[in-house]
Amino acid sequence: MQNFNYMTPTRLIFGKGVVEKLPKVMEQFGKRILLTYGGGSIKKIGLYQKVMELLKGYEIVELGGIQPNPKYDPSVLDGVRLCKEHNVDVILSVGGGSVLDCSKAIAAGACYDGDPWDLITYKVKAKAALPIVDIITLAATGSEYDAGGVISRTETNDKIGYIDSLLYPRVSFLDPTYTFTVSRKQTAAGIADAMNHTIEQYFAADTTLLNDGFCESMLRSLMVNGRKCLENPEDYTARAEMMLCCTYGCNGILSLGNSPSGWPCHGIEHALSAYYDITHGEGLAIITPRWMRHILNEKTIDRFVKYGVNVFGIDSTLPKQEIAERAINETYRFFESINIPMHLREVGIDDSRLDEMAHHIAVNEGLENAYAPLTEQDIKEILVASL
Ligand code: NZQ
Ligand code: ZN
Repeated sequence: MQNFNYMTPTRLIFGKGVVEKLPKVMEQFGKRILLTYGGGSIKKIGLYQKVMELLKGYEIVELGGIQPNPKYDPSVLDGVRLCKEHNVDVILSVGGGSVLDCSKAIAAGACYDGDPWDLITYKVKAKAALPIVDIITLAATGSEYDAGGVISRTETNDKIGYIDSLLYPRVSFLDPTYTFTVSRKQTAAGIADAMNHTIEQYFAADTTLLNDGFCESMLRSLMVNGRKCLENPEDYTARAEMMLCCTYGCNGILSLGNSPSGWPCHGIEHALSAYYDITHGEGLAIITPRWMRHILNEKTIDRFVKYGVNVFGIDSTLPKQEIAERAINETYRFFESINIPMHLREVGIDDSRLDEMAHHIAVNEGLENAYAPLTEQDIKEILVASL
Protein backbone atom coordinates (compact mmCIF):
# COMPACT_ATOMS: atom_id res chain seq x y z
CA MET A 1 0.00 0.00 0.00
CA GLN A 2 1.26 3.47 -0.89
CA ASN A 3 1.54 6.40 1.53
CA PHE A 4 -1.23 8.97 1.45
CA ASN A 5 -2.28 12.21 3.08
CA TYR A 6 -6.03 12.62 3.04
CA MET A 7 -8.78 14.87 4.30
CA THR A 8 -12.24 15.76 3.01
CA PRO A 9 -13.42 18.68 5.11
CA THR A 10 -16.94 18.87 3.61
CA ARG A 11 -19.97 18.42 5.85
CA LEU A 12 -22.66 16.35 4.12
CA ILE A 13 -26.24 17.00 5.18
CA PHE A 14 -28.28 14.28 3.56
CA GLY A 15 -31.96 13.41 3.26
CA LYS A 16 -35.50 14.57 2.63
CA GLY A 17 -36.15 18.14 3.76
CA VAL A 18 -32.61 18.89 4.96
CA VAL A 19 -32.58 22.20 3.10
CA GLU A 20 -34.59 23.65 6.00
CA LYS A 21 -31.26 23.85 7.82
CA LEU A 22 -29.89 26.28 5.21
CA PRO A 23 -30.38 29.56 7.16
CA LYS A 24 -28.60 28.15 10.22
CA VAL A 25 -25.72 26.87 8.08
CA MET A 26 -25.31 30.11 6.12
CA GLU A 27 -25.20 32.22 9.28
CA GLN A 28 -21.62 31.28 10.05
CA PHE A 29 -20.29 32.59 6.71
CA GLY A 30 -21.76 36.10 6.60
CA LYS A 31 -24.68 38.02 5.14
CA ARG A 32 -23.71 38.61 1.49
CA ILE A 33 -24.32 35.61 -0.74
CA LEU A 34 -23.60 34.95 -4.41
CA LEU A 35 -26.36 32.53 -5.48
CA THR A 36 -25.26 30.55 -8.53
CA TYR A 37 -27.51 28.37 -10.71
CA GLY A 38 -27.99 27.02 -14.20
CA GLY A 39 -30.55 27.41 -16.96
CA GLY A 40 -33.69 27.35 -14.86
CA SER A 41 -34.29 23.81 -13.56
CA ILE A 42 -34.17 25.06 -9.96
CA LYS A 43 -37.03 27.45 -10.70
CA LYS A 44 -39.10 24.66 -12.29
CA ILE A 45 -38.71 22.42 -9.25
CA GLY A 46 -39.49 25.21 -6.78
CA LEU A 47 -36.07 25.09 -5.16
CA TYR A 48 -35.13 28.64 -6.13
CA GLN A 49 -38.30 29.95 -4.47
CA LYS A 50 -37.63 27.80 -1.40
CA VAL A 51 -34.06 29.10 -1.03
CA MET A 52 -35.19 32.72 -1.41
CA GLU A 53 -37.82 32.20 1.26
CA LEU A 54 -35.35 30.55 3.64
CA LEU A 55 -32.75 33.26 3.14
CA LYS A 56 -34.95 36.33 3.74
CA GLY A 57 -32.79 38.89 5.47
CA TYR A 58 -29.64 37.89 3.55
CA GLU A 59 -28.22 40.08 0.81
CA ILE A 60 -28.35 37.92 -2.32
CA VAL A 61 -26.60 38.60 -5.62
CA GLU A 62 -27.49 36.17 -8.43
CA LEU A 63 -25.51 34.54 -11.19
CA GLY A 64 -27.84 32.35 -13.27
CA GLY A 65 -27.47 30.81 -16.72
CA ILE A 66 -24.41 28.69 -15.95
CA GLN A 67 -24.27 26.13 -18.76
CA PRO A 68 -23.36 22.44 -18.70
CA ASN A 69 -19.58 22.21 -19.28
CA PRO A 70 -19.35 25.61 -17.55
CA LYS A 71 -17.59 28.34 -19.45
CA TYR A 72 -14.80 30.55 -18.21
CA ASP A 73 -16.19 33.40 -20.26
CA PRO A 74 -18.74 34.65 -19.34
CA SER A 75 -19.73 32.60 -16.25
CA VAL A 76 -16.53 32.43 -14.19
CA LEU A 77 -15.54 35.99 -15.09
CA ASP A 78 -19.01 37.36 -14.33
CA GLY A 79 -19.10 35.55 -11.00
CA VAL A 80 -15.69 36.89 -9.97
CA ARG A 81 -16.73 40.41 -10.91
CA LEU A 82 -19.99 40.15 -8.92
CA CYS A 83 -18.17 38.84 -5.84
CA LYS A 84 -15.72 41.73 -5.94
CA GLU A 85 -18.33 44.42 -6.67
CA HIS A 86 -20.65 43.25 -3.90
CA ASN A 87 -18.04 42.14 -1.41
CA VAL A 88 -19.59 38.68 -1.25
CA ASP A 89 -18.94 36.53 1.85
CA VAL A 90 -20.02 33.10 0.61
CA ILE A 91 -21.16 31.35 -2.57
CA LEU A 92 -24.32 29.24 -2.56
CA SER A 93 -24.37 26.90 -5.55
CA VAL A 94 -27.79 25.40 -6.35
CA GLY A 95 -27.81 22.95 -9.26
CA GLY A 96 -25.76 20.22 -10.89
CA GLY A 97 -22.02 19.67 -11.12
CA SER A 98 -21.55 22.39 -13.72
CA VAL A 99 -22.93 25.09 -11.45
CA LEU A 100 -20.81 23.87 -8.56
CA ASP A 101 -17.63 23.59 -10.66
CA CYS A 102 -18.13 27.11 -11.93
CA SER A 103 -18.70 28.30 -8.35
CA LYS A 104 -15.40 26.75 -7.28
CA ALA A 105 -13.46 28.69 -9.92
CA ILE A 106 -15.33 31.85 -8.93
CA ALA A 107 -14.51 31.25 -5.25
CA ALA A 108 -10.78 31.22 -5.99
CA GLY A 109 -10.92 34.00 -8.59
CA ALA A 110 -12.75 36.30 -6.17
CA CYS A 111 -9.75 36.25 -3.83
CA TYR A 112 -7.15 36.89 -6.56
CA ASP A 113 -6.21 40.20 -8.18
CA GLY A 114 -5.04 38.86 -11.53
CA ASP A 115 -6.69 36.87 -14.33
CA PRO A 116 -8.48 33.84 -12.75
CA TRP A 117 -7.20 31.68 -15.65
CA ASP A 118 -3.76 31.87 -13.95
CA LEU A 119 -5.25 29.86 -11.06
CA ILE A 120 -7.14 27.35 -13.19
CA THR A 121 -3.98 26.59 -15.19
CA TYR A 122 -1.84 26.48 -12.00
CA LYS A 123 0.37 29.33 -13.23
CA VAL A 124 -0.36 30.84 -9.81
CA LYS A 125 -1.35 28.92 -6.68
CA ALA A 126 -4.47 30.34 -5.02
CA LYS A 127 -3.85 31.67 -1.51
CA ALA A 128 -7.51 31.87 -0.52
CA ALA A 129 -11.02 31.13 -1.77
CA LEU A 130 -14.49 32.18 -0.68
CA PRO A 131 -16.40 29.49 1.24
CA ILE A 132 -18.85 27.46 -0.85
CA VAL A 133 -22.12 25.87 0.26
CA ASP A 134 -24.08 23.82 -2.25
CA ILE A 135 -27.43 22.18 -2.79
CA ILE A 136 -26.72 19.54 -5.41
CA THR A 137 -29.65 18.64 -7.68
CA LEU A 138 -28.11 16.01 -9.94
CA ALA A 139 -26.32 12.82 -8.90
CA ALA A 140 -23.23 12.40 -11.06
CA THR A 141 -19.96 14.23 -10.61
CA GLY A 142 -19.26 14.04 -6.88
CA SER A 143 -18.28 17.71 -7.04
CA GLU A 144 -20.24 18.17 -3.80
CA TYR A 145 -17.59 16.15 -1.94
CA ASP A 146 -14.40 17.00 -3.80
CA ALA A 147 -11.96 19.82 -4.37
CA GLY A 148 -12.18 19.97 -8.16
CA GLY A 149 -13.98 21.94 -10.80
CA VAL A 150 -13.82 21.49 -14.57
CA ILE A 151 -13.86 24.69 -16.63
CA SER A 152 -14.09 25.09 -20.41
CA ARG A 153 -12.57 27.81 -22.52
CA THR A 154 -14.23 27.69 -25.89
CA GLU A 155 -11.74 29.66 -27.97
CA THR A 156 -8.83 27.33 -27.11
CA ASN A 157 -10.79 24.04 -26.87
CA ASP A 158 -9.57 23.66 -23.30
CA LYS A 159 -11.50 21.84 -20.61
CA ILE A 160 -9.36 21.89 -17.51
CA GLY A 161 -9.79 20.08 -14.21
CA TYR A 162 -8.85 22.62 -11.54
CA ILE A 163 -8.14 20.99 -8.17
CA ASP A 164 -7.16 22.78 -4.97
CA SER A 165 -7.96 21.82 -1.39
CA LEU A 166 -9.27 25.38 -0.88
CA LEU A 167 -12.19 24.46 -3.13
CA TYR A 168 -13.91 21.76 -1.05
CA PRO A 169 -17.46 22.89 -0.36
CA ARG A 170 -17.82 23.66 3.35
CA VAL A 171 -21.30 22.17 3.43
CA SER A 172 -23.19 20.12 0.84
CA PHE A 173 -26.93 19.59 1.09
CA LEU A 174 -28.08 16.39 -0.58
CA ASP A 175 -31.81 15.88 -0.81
CA PRO A 176 -32.55 13.01 -3.21
CA THR A 177 -36.08 14.31 -3.85
CA TYR A 178 -34.57 17.20 -5.82
CA THR A 179 -33.19 14.65 -8.29
CA PHE A 180 -36.65 13.21 -9.13
CA THR A 181 -36.96 15.63 -12.06
CA VAL A 182 -33.58 14.88 -13.63
CA SER A 183 -34.25 13.72 -17.21
CA ARG A 184 -33.63 10.14 -18.35
CA LYS A 185 -30.71 11.35 -20.43
CA GLN A 186 -29.02 13.15 -17.52
CA THR A 187 -29.81 10.32 -15.07
CA ALA A 188 -28.16 7.80 -17.39
CA ALA A 189 -25.20 10.14 -17.94
CA GLY A 190 -24.86 10.48 -14.17
CA ILE A 191 -24.80 6.70 -13.72
CA ALA A 192 -22.11 6.41 -16.39
CA ASP A 193 -20.06 9.25 -14.91
CA ALA A 194 -20.02 7.75 -11.41
CA MET A 195 -19.35 4.26 -12.78
CA ASN A 196 -16.43 5.60 -14.72
CA HIS A 197 -15.05 7.46 -11.68
CA THR A 198 -15.01 4.09 -9.96
CA ILE A 199 -13.48 2.25 -12.91
CA GLU A 200 -10.76 4.92 -13.23
CA GLN A 201 -9.73 4.11 -9.66
CA TYR A 202 -10.17 0.33 -9.88
CA PHE A 203 -7.87 -0.13 -12.88
CA ALA A 204 -4.56 0.59 -11.17
CA ALA A 205 -1.40 -1.46 -10.72
CA ASP A 206 -1.34 -1.48 -6.95
CA THR A 207 -4.71 -1.82 -5.19
CA THR A 208 -6.08 -3.33 -1.98
CA LEU A 209 -8.76 -5.86 -1.22
CA LEU A 210 -10.54 -3.11 0.68
CA ASN A 211 -10.56 -0.61 -2.19
CA ASP A 212 -11.42 -3.26 -4.76
CA GLY A 213 -14.42 -4.30 -2.68
CA PHE A 214 -15.55 -0.69 -2.23
CA CYS A 215 -15.32 -0.11 -5.99
CA GLU A 216 -17.06 -3.37 -6.90
CA SER A 217 -19.89 -2.58 -4.52
CA MET A 218 -20.19 0.96 -5.94
CA LEU A 219 -20.47 -0.41 -9.46
CA ARG A 220 -23.10 -2.99 -8.54
CA SER A 221 -25.12 -0.43 -6.61
CA LEU A 222 -24.94 2.14 -9.41
CA MET A 223 -26.19 -0.39 -11.95
CA VAL A 224 -29.02 -1.72 -9.78
CA ASN A 225 -30.17 1.62 -8.36
CA GLY A 226 -29.48 3.55 -11.55
CA ARG A 227 -31.81 1.25 -13.45
CA LYS A 228 -34.49 1.69 -10.75
CA CYS A 229 -34.17 5.50 -11.01
CA LEU A 230 -34.79 5.24 -14.75
CA GLU A 231 -37.77 2.93 -14.30
CA ASN A 232 -39.33 5.03 -11.57
CA PRO A 233 -37.80 8.53 -11.29
CA GLU A 234 -39.51 9.09 -7.93
CA ASP A 235 -38.14 5.95 -6.24
CA TYR A 236 -36.66 7.67 -3.18
CA THR A 237 -34.58 4.72 -2.01
CA ALA A 238 -32.96 4.25 -5.40
CA ARG A 239 -32.35 7.98 -5.95
CA ALA A 240 -30.86 8.21 -2.44
CA GLU A 241 -28.44 5.33 -2.90
CA MET A 242 -27.44 6.53 -6.34
CA MET A 243 -26.81 9.98 -4.92
CA LEU A 244 -24.53 8.68 -2.19
CA CYS A 245 -22.62 6.50 -4.67
CA CYS A 246 -22.03 9.52 -6.87
CA THR A 247 -20.85 11.56 -3.89
CA TYR A 248 -18.16 8.97 -3.14
CA GLY A 249 -16.95 8.88 -6.74
CA CYS A 250 -14.44 11.65 -7.10
CA ASN A 251 -12.77 12.61 -3.85
CA GLY A 252 -10.17 9.84 -3.80
CA ILE A 253 -11.70 7.77 -1.00
CA LEU A 254 -12.04 4.76 -3.34
CA SER A 255 -8.32 4.61 -4.02
CA LEU A 256 -6.52 5.57 -0.79
CA GLY A 257 -3.20 3.72 -0.84
CA ASN A 258 -3.56 2.65 -4.49
CA SER A 259 -1.01 3.59 -7.13
CA PRO A 260 -2.23 6.36 -9.43
CA SER A 261 -4.24 5.35 -12.48
CA GLY A 262 -4.02 8.54 -14.54
CA TRP A 263 -7.81 8.73 -15.11
CA PRO A 264 -7.39 8.06 -18.86
CA CYS A 265 -11.07 8.01 -19.88
CA HIS A 266 -11.54 11.44 -18.29
CA GLY A 267 -8.45 12.73 -20.06
CA ILE A 268 -9.94 11.66 -23.37
CA GLU A 269 -13.53 12.71 -22.61
CA HIS A 270 -12.64 16.20 -21.49
CA ALA A 271 -11.28 16.88 -24.97
CA LEU A 272 -14.47 15.53 -26.56
CA SER A 273 -16.65 17.88 -24.53
CA ALA A 274 -14.20 20.75 -25.00
CA TYR A 275 -14.32 20.41 -28.79
CA TYR A 276 -17.98 19.39 -29.18
CA ASP A 277 -19.73 20.41 -25.92
CA ILE A 278 -21.21 16.91 -25.43
CA THR A 279 -22.63 15.52 -22.17
CA HIS A 280 -19.70 14.33 -20.03
CA GLY A 281 -21.25 11.03 -18.87
CA GLU A 282 -22.23 10.05 -22.41
CA GLY A 283 -18.71 10.70 -23.68
CA LEU A 284 -17.35 8.50 -20.89
CA ALA A 285 -19.76 5.66 -21.62
CA ILE A 286 -18.66 5.68 -25.26
CA ILE A 287 -14.93 5.76 -24.47
CA THR A 288 -14.83 3.31 -21.53
CA PRO A 289 -15.40 -0.06 -23.30
CA ARG A 290 -13.17 0.98 -26.22
CA TRP A 291 -10.41 1.96 -23.80
CA MET A 292 -10.87 -1.36 -22.00
CA ARG A 293 -10.50 -3.32 -25.26
CA HIS A 294 -7.44 -1.30 -26.16
CA ILE A 295 -5.57 -1.91 -22.91
CA LEU A 296 -6.49 -5.58 -22.42
CA ASN A 297 -3.21 -7.53 -22.50
CA GLU A 298 -1.33 -10.06 -20.37
CA LYS A 299 -0.32 -7.33 -17.90
CA THR A 300 -3.85 -6.05 -17.31
CA ILE A 301 -5.90 -9.22 -17.73
CA ASP A 302 -6.10 -10.11 -14.03
CA ARG A 303 -7.82 -6.79 -13.27
CA PHE A 304 -10.39 -7.50 -15.94
CA VAL A 305 -10.96 -11.00 -14.56
CA LYS A 306 -11.58 -9.67 -11.05
CA TYR A 307 -13.86 -6.95 -12.44
CA GLY A 308 -15.82 -9.46 -14.53
CA VAL A 309 -16.27 -12.00 -11.75
CA ASN A 310 -17.06 -9.61 -8.89
CA VAL A 311 -19.06 -6.94 -10.71
CA PHE A 312 -20.92 -8.95 -13.36
CA GLY A 313 -20.90 -12.39 -11.72
CA ILE A 314 -19.11 -14.04 -14.66
CA ASP A 315 -18.15 -17.69 -14.02
CA SER A 316 -14.62 -17.62 -12.54
CA THR A 317 -13.76 -21.05 -13.98
CA LEU A 318 -13.87 -19.79 -17.57
CA PRO A 319 -10.58 -19.02 -19.34
CA LYS A 320 -9.21 -15.60 -18.34
CA GLN A 321 -9.40 -14.14 -21.83
CA GLU A 322 -13.05 -15.10 -22.10
CA ILE A 323 -13.92 -13.57 -18.71
CA ALA A 324 -12.14 -10.34 -19.65
CA GLU A 325 -13.87 -10.05 -23.02
CA ARG A 326 -17.26 -10.84 -21.51
CA ALA A 327 -16.68 -8.19 -18.81
CA ILE A 328 -15.96 -5.55 -21.47
CA ASN A 329 -19.04 -6.59 -23.45
CA GLU A 330 -21.19 -6.44 -20.30
CA THR A 331 -19.92 -2.93 -19.62
CA TYR A 332 -20.88 -1.86 -23.13
CA ARG A 333 -24.26 -3.58 -22.94
CA PHE A 334 -25.13 -1.98 -19.61
CA PHE A 335 -24.58 1.52 -21.00
CA GLU A 336 -26.50 0.62 -24.14
CA SER A 337 -29.36 -0.79 -22.05
CA ILE A 338 -29.85 2.56 -20.30
CA ASN A 339 -30.14 4.22 -23.71
CA ILE A 340 -26.85 6.00 -23.86
CA PRO A 341 -25.77 6.66 -27.45
CA MET A 342 -22.73 4.41 -27.79
CA HIS A 343 -21.01 5.92 -30.84
CA LEU A 344 -19.32 9.29 -31.22
CA ARG A 345 -21.23 9.90 -34.44
CA GLU A 346 -24.50 9.71 -32.48
CA VAL A 347 -23.40 12.65 -30.33
CA GLY A 348 -22.30 14.71 -33.33
CA ILE A 349 -18.60 13.81 -33.52
CA ASP A 350 -17.22 12.67 -36.87
CA ASP A 351 -13.65 11.79 -37.88
CA SER A 352 -12.69 15.29 -39.04
CA ARG A 353 -10.88 16.39 -35.85
CA LEU A 354 -9.72 13.09 -34.35
CA ASP A 355 -6.04 13.75 -35.12
CA GLU A 356 -6.24 17.21 -33.60
CA MET A 357 -8.01 15.90 -30.48
CA ALA A 358 -5.61 12.97 -30.06
CA HIS A 359 -2.70 15.41 -30.21
CA HIS A 360 -4.39 17.81 -27.77
CA ILE A 361 -5.02 14.96 -25.31
CA ALA A 362 -1.49 13.52 -25.64
CA VAL A 363 0.08 16.94 -25.00
CA ASN A 364 -2.21 18.04 -22.16
CA GLU A 365 -3.29 14.95 -20.22
CA GLY A 366 -0.06 13.07 -19.48
CA LEU A 367 -1.58 9.68 -20.30
CA GLU A 368 1.79 8.13 -21.03
CA ASN A 369 1.99 7.79 -17.23
CA ALA A 370 -1.40 6.11 -16.88
CA TYR A 371 -1.90 2.60 -15.46
CA ALA A 372 -1.83 1.35 -19.06
CA PRO A 373 0.24 4.06 -20.79
CA LEU A 374 -1.35 5.71 -23.83
CA THR A 375 0.59 7.38 -26.65
CA GLU A 376 -0.96 9.78 -29.15
CA GLN A 377 -1.38 6.81 -31.50
CA ASP A 378 -3.18 4.78 -28.80
CA ILE A 379 -5.53 7.69 -28.11
CA LYS A 380 -6.26 8.05 -31.82
CA GLU A 381 -7.05 4.31 -32.06
CA ILE A 382 -9.45 4.52 -29.09
CA LEU A 383 -11.19 7.49 -30.71
CA VAL A 384 -11.46 5.72 -34.07
CA ALA A 385 -12.88 2.61 -32.38
CA SER A 386 -15.47 4.85 -30.66
CA LEU A 387 -16.78 6.41 -33.88
O1 NZQ B 1 -28.95 24.23 -16.10
P1 NZQ B 1 -30.15 23.68 -15.45
O2 NZQ B 1 -31.42 24.31 -15.89
O3 NZQ B 1 -30.03 23.62 -13.95
O4 NZQ B 1 -30.34 22.15 -15.97
C1 NZQ B 1 -29.36 21.15 -15.77
C2 NZQ B 1 -28.53 20.87 -17.01
O5 NZQ B 1 -29.23 21.17 -18.18
C3 NZQ B 1 -30.08 19.85 -15.55
N1 NZQ B 1 -30.46 19.60 -14.16
C4 NZQ B 1 -29.71 19.67 -13.04
N2 NZQ B 1 -30.44 19.32 -11.95
C5 NZQ B 1 -31.69 19.07 -12.40
C6 NZQ B 1 -31.72 19.24 -13.79
N3 NZQ B 1 -32.84 19.05 -14.52
C7 NZQ B 1 -33.97 18.70 -13.87
N4 NZQ B 1 -34.00 18.48 -12.53
C8 NZQ B 1 -32.89 18.67 -11.76
N5 NZQ B 1 -32.95 18.43 -10.44
O6 NZQ B 1 -29.16 18.85 -15.96
C9 NZQ B 1 -28.34 19.37 -17.01
C10 NZQ B 1 -26.91 18.97 -16.76
O7 NZQ B 1 -26.39 19.58 -15.61
P2 NZQ B 1 -24.83 19.56 -15.27
O8 NZQ B 1 -24.61 20.30 -14.03
O9 NZQ B 1 -24.04 19.97 -16.48
O10 NZQ B 1 -24.55 17.99 -15.08
P3 NZQ B 1 -23.48 17.25 -14.18
O11 NZQ B 1 -23.81 17.34 -12.75
O12 NZQ B 1 -23.36 15.92 -14.77
O13 NZQ B 1 -22.12 18.08 -14.41
C11 NZQ B 1 -21.32 17.89 -15.54
C12 NZQ B 1 -20.05 18.73 -15.45
O14 NZQ B 1 -19.23 18.32 -14.35
C13 NZQ B 1 -17.90 18.03 -14.79
C14 NZQ B 1 -18.16 17.56 -16.20
O15 NZQ B 1 -16.98 17.56 -16.98
C15 NZQ B 1 -19.19 18.55 -16.69
O16 NZQ B 1 -18.58 19.76 -17.06
N6 NZQ B 1 -17.26 17.09 -13.87
C16 NZQ B 1 -16.93 17.54 -12.63
C17 NZQ B 1 -16.25 16.76 -11.72
C18 NZQ B 1 -15.87 17.25 -10.39
N7 NZQ B 1 -16.04 18.48 -10.03
O17 NZQ B 1 -15.36 16.49 -9.58
C19 NZQ B 1 -15.84 15.41 -12.03
C20 NZQ B 1 -16.49 14.84 -13.24
O18 NZQ B 1 -15.65 13.83 -13.75
C21 NZQ B 1 -16.79 15.81 -14.32
O19 NZQ B 1 -15.67 16.01 -15.19
ZN1 ZN C 1 -16.58 12.35 -14.59
